[in-house]
Amino acid sequence: MFVDTLDLAQQDYELIRRLVYVHSGINLGDGKMQLVKARLGKKVRQGNFHSFRDYYHHVEQDPTGDRLCELLDAISTNTTHLFREVRHFHLLQKLITHWAHDRDWRIQHTTLRIWSAACASGEEPHSLAMVAYDTLLNHPGIDLKILATDLSKRMISRATLALYKPNSVRTVPPDFRTKYLKKIERNGQVLFQLVPQLRKTITFARFNLMTPSFHFGLRFNVIFCRNVMIYFDRPTQEALVNKLAGQLQPGGYLMIGHSESLQGIHHPLSYVEPTVYRKTGSAVVEGMPKEPFPGQ
Ligand SMILES: C[S@@+](CC[C@H](N)C(=O)[O-])C[C@H]1O[C@@H](n2cnc3c(N)ncnc32)[C@H](O)[C@@H]1O
Repeated sequence: MFVDTLDLAQQDYELIRRLVYVHSGINLGDGKMQLVKARLGKKVRQGNFHSFRDYYHHVEQDPTGDRLCELLDAISTNTTHLFREVRHFHLLQKLITHWAHDRDWRIQHTTLRIWSAACASGEEPHSLAMVAYDTLLNHPGIDLKILATDLSKRMISRATLALYKPNSVRTVPPDFRTKYLKKIERNGQVLFQLVPQLRKTITFARFNLMTPSFHFGLRFNVIFCRNVMIYFDRPTQEALVNKLAGQLQPGGYLMIGHSESLQGIHHPLSYVEPTVYRKTGSAVVEGMPKEPFPGQ
């Protein structure tokens, strides 16, 4: 029997929906049945399963968890681009400059720590690295460490390569493109790669934001957790924001995606402006920079 002729039965959809919710927090609404059918149909066909139910059992019973990873990979949306929601990068530049001039901050910190908490294929941490590295050039003595994590193994492998097609680098400020992206040729194709000194600042790892409690040891000055909470329901968002807040240093900042909001969620952070929150402590930075990046 060909799966094209099979329907995704409501009961099977509910099983898959539950599995996805439990393991990733992604809340597939009633309207996502076609999406699930389209994205998982290929796997059902490739694996010669007779039905979505058979495929579901296969995933559920896989002791390695690899099949589950693949299912979640297929379901999740990984859309991103370099310097997405550029206002956050302007703010980051301003924050770093402010902290670097703050005597107390300098006494307490020799390293600036940033976490890109749903980094997809790496565009966000690569953009963070360009901005933070470039700003810190004016302030020797502060190291840069970026942690970049995502649920998807496939995305993490891609992100580690830091390779871009020419049309993907159009959103990078020209000055940064010249300084931090190296033109290379691979299999007759022109590509751009983030330079090694910036790649060295980033550690990539698979990490599930649904992990019940986070223990990263040292806390972060800035966390970018953008365009992932939109897939979670309110209780899941609330639990996540509180775990993220626990990983911020006092005075640290959380940036969320442009269509996300923490309204109606209980959390300990102060509102700075839409999509920007701050953990109470020192190092307040008033207002936002008006000037664009050099060369933009
Ligand atoms: C739309 S991308 C966002 C990329 C980037 N932050 C941005 O704003 O451009 C959403 C990412 O969240 C990841 N994701 C979904 N659920 C997750 C979870 N439970 N833990 C970690 N990452 C998750 C997906 O794999 C996907 O790569």
